[in-house]
Amino acid sequence: MKIAVLGTGNVGSALGTGWAKAGHEVVFGSRDPSSPKALAVVAAAGENARAATVQQAVVGADAILLATPWPATEWLLGSLGNLSGKVIIDCINPLNETFSGLTHGHSISGAELVAAWAPGAHVVKAFNSVSARVMSDPNFDGQPATLFYCGDDTKAKQVVHQLATDLGFEAADAGPLVNARYLEPLAMLYIHLAIRQGWGSNTAFHVIKRDVKEPKQQ
Ligand SMILES: NC(=O)c1ccc[n+]([C@@H]2O[C@H](COP(=O)([O-])OP(=O)(O)OC[C@H]3O[C@@H](n4cnc5c(N)ncnc54)[C@H](OP(=O)(O)O)[C@@H]3O)[C@@H](O)[C@H]2O)c1
Repeated sequence: MKIAVLGTGNVGSALGTGWAKAGHEVVFGSRDPSSPKALAVVAAAGENARAATVQQAVVGADAILLATPWPATEWLLGSLGNLSGKVIIDCINPLNETFSGLTHGHSISGAELVAAWAPGAHVVKAFNSVSARVMSDPNFDGQPATLFYCGDDTKAKQVVHQLATDLGFEAADAGPLVNARYLEPLAMLYIHLAIRQGWGSNTAFHVIKRDVKEPKQQ
């Protein structure tokens, strides 16, 4: 698969490197693709990776990862031209300036705004409630971290499910895109535990289930 990874920061480099090492063709879209930072990210990701401008990176991409800051999102999407039919993976949390809360929630999510700013694109919310460190290694002593995703297009969700599985996550379909209203606050809980409570970034959510027959609902 050809994946455009927009942003060469913590998340872009972690996911782009993982996908390149899993055999995908990764194009890192950067504001400055010849910067030492972008070149170092490409070098670490290996032979399946290269860097380009964000506008070049999305050309012919099967999936586009947005790994950029929330305040840049509307402008960034507006600069990419027609994204109709494209799979957009949105890991962005609409954080306020102090990272202490969300600028949107309850009645609208960042992911729904992304969908509005990229008309016709198939937006999937994913990778927003795990740390970049866990993205690089989702294996906890043989137990995979759970990766929640939600979206309205079945094929786009299958793409994200596969890309998460390729990295070693247990991918979990969390329903339609409107459920990003729950996944984005979940990231705030993660930030609280990992940063404010000091659990650290080697922390992840993991869902456990029991194989028990449920009584039929009346
Ligand atoms: N860090 C985490 O553990 C984590 C976990 C889950 C979700 N997220 C979400 O993932 C997104 C990226 O987080 P991150 O930690 O990777 O951030 P980061 O390290 O600051 O990287 C963001 C990258 O976006 C690019 N960019 C494009 N427009 C920008 C602008 N106006 N200002 C600054 N950078 C701009 C930059 O790459 P170029 O210089 O190459 O353009 C930059 O390196 C955020 O929205 C965050 O909410 C983060």
